[in-house]
Formats: sequence, structure tokens, C-alpha cells
Amino acid sequence: AAKAARNAQPAGPPSDGPAEDTDSCRRHGVVMNQPPNQAPGLNVPSFVKHPKLVAWVQSIARLTEPAEVVWCDGSAEEYDRLCSQLVAAGTMQRLNRAKRPDSFLARSDPDDVARVEDRTFICSERQEDAGPTNNWMAPARMRAILQTGQADGSPALFQGCMRGRTMYVVPFSMGPLGSHIAQLGVELTDSAYVAVSMRTMTRMGKAALEVLGSDGHFVPCVHSVGAPLEAGQADVRWPCNPTKYIVHYPETQEIWSYGSGYGGNALLGKKCLALRIASHMGRSGGWLAEHMLILGVTSPAGRKYHVAAAFPSACGKTNFSMLVPPRSHAGWSVTTVGEDIAWIKPGQGGRLHAINPEAGYFGVAPGTNEHTNPNCMAMLARDVIFTNVALTDDGDVWWEGMTDAPPAHLIDWQGRDWTPQIAKETGAKAAHPNSRFTVSSIHNPVLDTEWDNPEGVPIDAFMFGGRRSTTVPLVTEARDWTEGVYMAATMGSETTAAIAGKVGVVRRDPFAMIAFAGYNMADYFQHWLDIGAQLAAAGVPQPKIYCVNWFRKGADGKFIWPGFSDNMRVLEWIVGRLEGRAGAAENAFGFSPRYEDLRWDGLDFSREQFQSVIGIDRPAWTQELVLHQELFTKLSLGLPAELPATKARIEQRLAA
Ligand code: GTP
Ligand code: SPV
Ligand code: MN
Repeated sequence: AAKAARNAQPAGPPSDGPAEDTDSCRRHGVVMNQPPNQAPGLNVPSFVKHPKLVAWVQSIARLTEPAEVVWCDGSAEEYDRLCSQLVAAGTMQRLNRAKRPDSFLARSDPDDVARVEDRTFICSERQEDAGPTNNWMAPARMRAILQTGQADGSPALFQGCMRGRTMYVVPFSMGPLGSHIAQLGVELTDSAYVAVSMRTMTRMGKAALEVLGSDGHFVPCVHSVGAPLEAGQADVRWPCNPTKYIVHYPETQEIWSYGSGYGGNALLGKKCLALRIASHMGRSGGWLAEHMLILGVTSPAGRKYHVAAAFPSACGKTNFSMLVPPRSHAGWSVTTVGEDIAWIKPGQGGRLHAINPEAGYFGVAPGTNEHTNPNCMAMLARDVIFTNVALTDDGDVWWEGMTDAPPAHLIDWQGRDWTPQIAKETGAKAAHPNSRFTVSSIHNPVLDTEWDNPEGVPIDAFMFGGRRSTTVPLVTEARDWTEGVYMAATMGSETTAAIAGKVGVVRRDPFAMIAFAGYNMADYFQHWLDIGAQLAAAGVPQPKIYCVNWFRKGADGKFIWPGFSDNMRVLEWIVGRLEGRAGAAENAFGFSPRYEDLRWDGLDFSREQFQSVIGIDRPAWTQELVLHQELFTKLSLGLPAELPATKARIEQRLAA
């Protein structure tokens, strides 16, 4: 039944019916002049039973001209073999086996360290379907640049781009294998680092192919670092290309990525499929693909709730999802279902249920330590690929914030000598601010027992939180669904190192999805309102919606709120609200706790300090609402009328 459901999905090119087959092939530049399973050099293993997959792989091999094609089975032997090859190539080095067993350090090119939002495109047929917050190009024009070559005779970027390299065929499932919420994809990549990372981040290999069967639907993902090797040409440590394109065709469900080997640019199951393509699928299918962690929180009374929370990149999702309650909250437990992405669908009884489409974590290293997150440190004890962290003299890793005092000597993320003195003189960071770990979720000591449940977990509350040094209070509960959608839609956040470009600039980041919505953001707001209305019409309670901000700063420039474990105090209040116990005061935006509504034992945090993180500064909010209006003006085409109406009500309340 799961397979039938999958086959009923809107068909992308590989699963088009026979009548469209030749058309689809022509569109992809395929010449079908021989039966695919006998194609020379394709090395199709016997466990591959899907003729259209083979034909597509062949067509991409013809276009990109790799020296060799390798089909990934997802086995441990394969992972070990590819890691050894990456070590031999100098891309990775093995860490001290006693200190960090089965772990590696990779150093990327300094120009390939983060997602490139200005090179990311949503190529819908009509520009208004991508909307004003996405980069757009007409599909035909983009295909000329990437696949077919341009009118002036310049070759397409993917033509011959894998010459001298191996093309890995990486089949994967986003979501539990066979789940009715899951989606299959196949990534063709010329990066072994991407292939091994995909094994950790997704359910990759033979098992995914088994679910795919002989004619199942998959999202085709083509990835190249854009650095072909001519005969005799020596390779570099981290091949990439200064020209980068991260391209999505939402209507035909295709992904093409060129020029980068890093993170969300290259691991195409993650942001490209699980957010940009999936959000487009979810719009027509009545579900949501969100940049959200999913956690379980169990009270001392043994009642368990599930919370999904959207914070922008490098704003605390991974940490919050595996929070260690402070000693004062010993009876509470927090367990992780997901830490970056949630797919949310009405499930049993009509309630919203969420799955984590991923199987591993690609998490921010700096700031992680035994104090801020002992669970995370325990998770990183073994079987980790670290990228762009610093190397200690005894072959282990270090990053800013790992220990109070830095080691006396390190090799920094660019392979240079680093000492505290050099750092003082030049400001050089030992680890890149967007350095990351890649680790399987099964190493998370607080992994939720339901993390792999194909039905997902029922959602009781949504949280939205930006990184704001001023203005936005610690926590606010929306009065209703629409007000919650307004809060999420107008959320602002200071940019972080997860994105190439300037850090610390406040920008609007609606739903933490500014870079990830695969369609018009105004339509996305409407979709959220529609989901809420559907729940109401079905008589199903809507999850409550909260807005949080852990990041207000004092005059000394330091965070006022202790954050991390102490975020449990806010979560406890939220659970108290769900149970109708916790008190609150109403304000212009909704309800916020008074000092006496939070539990303070074990933390020295005065009323005055609390006031400085919860207070509403009217002049600041007058300014903030101007920024909300700017966003609404930009998104005016299709903007739901409920949002400006909610804004008007907030303005009245603020003025009162
Ligand atoms: P992406 O993987 O980019 O989506 O990031 P994320 O949202 O999962 O953020 P993550 O939990 O990795 O945290 C990013 C940075 O914020 C790290 O340096 C953390 O140490 C820091 N951080 C996380 N939670 C808190 C908090 O509650 N307070 C403060 N001050 N910093 C935090
Ligand atoms: C983010 O930037 O939100 C990430 C890291 O989670 S990446 O996988 O590079 O997108
Ligand atoms: Mn993220």
C-alpha cells in the first residue's frame, strides 16, 4: 500500500508514463539507443531493478562523462572503503583512533564553507510561483546554462563536468523506509565526501532501492563539484568551482547542484529535497515541510508532549532538540525526534503528525561543550565526520567554545598553525564559525523511541524563534492560530555563518523558511492558514503557537538569558499552558509569563533581569512593525488578508 501511495505522487520525469518517456528523455538530453541494462561502463548491479532509474543514470553519465560509475549499496564496507579513498586523496584525515574512534576531519576550500543563498534558484515556469523572496530563472534558460548549452555556443556547465572522476549513484529515502510520509530520491554525485555523508544523513543504499522497486517514484538529484580532471591532472584536496548553481525545478521535482561540495549545497536530500521540493509537494498534498526540530518532552507526572520548533540556521534547533534539563528539573526529560527538518501531515484522528525525514545530524560545532550540551558532546564521541574544525596536536578536534582555555597549539581549519597568541593578533578562528559534525542520529543519547515511527508523532505545540539581540521577548503565546501564523510570518533574525555573506544583519525570515520555501512565500502563509482552518473544521484541536528569543543582549553585549539547559524553564511553562495550569499576562502580542509564572530554583535570575528579556519596548516595536509592513509590501501579491488585519489589531493594542 505504501508503494501504491508513492506511485500516486505527482510524477517527476523518471516515473512519467510510457507515453511521456521519450519526451522526458529528450528534455534531459538522453539518446535511448540501447537497452539501459546493457549500457557499457554503467556497472549496474543486480540489485537494481528499475529500468527508468538506469536510463536516467545513463543519460546523466552521457552528459557529464565520468570515468567510472559506482552504485552505492549503503553498506559499512562501502563507507569504510570510500573514507579510506578520501584519506588517500587528502580530503579527509583520520583522527586519533583512541580519542575519537572511526572519525575523520575534512577541510573544505575556504570559498566553499556555507550555503550560497544568492546562487540558489527556484525555477518554476512562472516567476510569481517562485515569489519575490526566491531567485528565479525560467526553466528553459536554466536548462540551457546547466544541461543543453547556450545559444551563443557556450557549453552547458554539466557537459563533461565529471571527466576524470567517479560518479556515485546514491539512492536514499527521506523518512522511515516505506512510510507513507517518506519520499525517495537518487543523487548522482562526483564527490565521495557527499556519498559518505549521505549514508549518515539519510537511509541510503540497497534498502531505499528495495522500496523503490521496479517503477517507484524518486526525485532525481544531480550534483557535481564542477571540477573535471583532464588526463594526468592532479586533484586538489577539496575540488569545487567558483561558479555555483543550486537549482530546483519544483514542478518536475528535479534538483541540479553545481560547484559546491559543502553541506546543504551538496547533500541534496536535506534543504533541496526535504524543504524546497517537499514544501512544494506539501502545498498540493495538504501537508507541511518545515525547517523545524521535533522533540518529545515528558513531565514528572509522566505525560509526554511533542513540540516542533522553527529557528533559522545556526539559531539553536539541534541544541534545543537534545536539551539536558537543569538539576532543578530532574523529573523532566527531553528526547529528540528530529533536529533540523520536519514533515507534518494530518494523521490518526486528524491531528498533525511529524516525522524527521533525516537519519543523521549535520550540526554546528562551535559553542558546543560539556556545559552547554553534554548530550551533544557524548554523541560526538565516535563515528563522526568533522568538517572545518581545528586539529589538536594529538590528532583530536577542537573548536571555539569547546573548552574555556584553548590548547596552546592547533592546526586551524585551513591547515595553518594556530596559537592563542596568533588569534589575539589576527583574530583568526581555529575552527570556521560554520564548522560542522556529521553523525548518525542513533548516537544521540536522548534519541526518542518514536524517531523512526513511520506514522510520526502528534504535535502539541509549534515554536518559532529568531536570533534577536533586542526587541523580541523571551516567549509569547499567540492568542490563536492566525496570530501565531502572523508571528511566524514576520519573524526577524540576525544572519549567521551558516549562510555565505554578512553575519549579524537582521532580516525577515518567515517561519525560518526564507531560504527554503519552494514556492511563493505569500502562498505559503495561506497554506498555513488553510491547515489551521482544516483542523478547526474537523474539530481537531490546533497546536498552540509560541514565539521565543533566547538571544537578547545586555548593555555589556552579552546574552542576558542563560539559554541551553535553562530553556527548559520556558518549555516547562509551555507544557503548563498546554495543561491549562501555567499563569500568564496578556499583552499586545498574546500571553507572556510573569516572573512568578516561571520556576527559578537553581538559577540566579532576578526580576530585573527577567524584565530585560520579557519586556516590550514600544519605540522598538514601532520600528519593528515598519519592517513587518516592508515584508507585506514585498509579498503583496497573494498575501492573505488575515495578516495585515492581525497587524492592525496589534498596532491598536500597542497604542492602547
Ligand atoms: P542549523 O544546523 O544551521 O540549522 O543550526 P541550528 O538551528 O540547529 O543551531 P544549533 O543548535 O547548532 O546552534 C547554533 C549556535 O547557537 C551554536 O553555536 C550554539 O552553541 C548556539 N546556541 C544554541 N542554543 C543556544 C541558546 O539557548 N543560547 C545561546 N546563547 N546560544 C545558543
Ligand atoms: C542550515 O543552514 O540551516 C543547515 C546547514 O542546517 S546546511 O545543511 O548547510 O543547510
Ligand atoms: Mn538547518
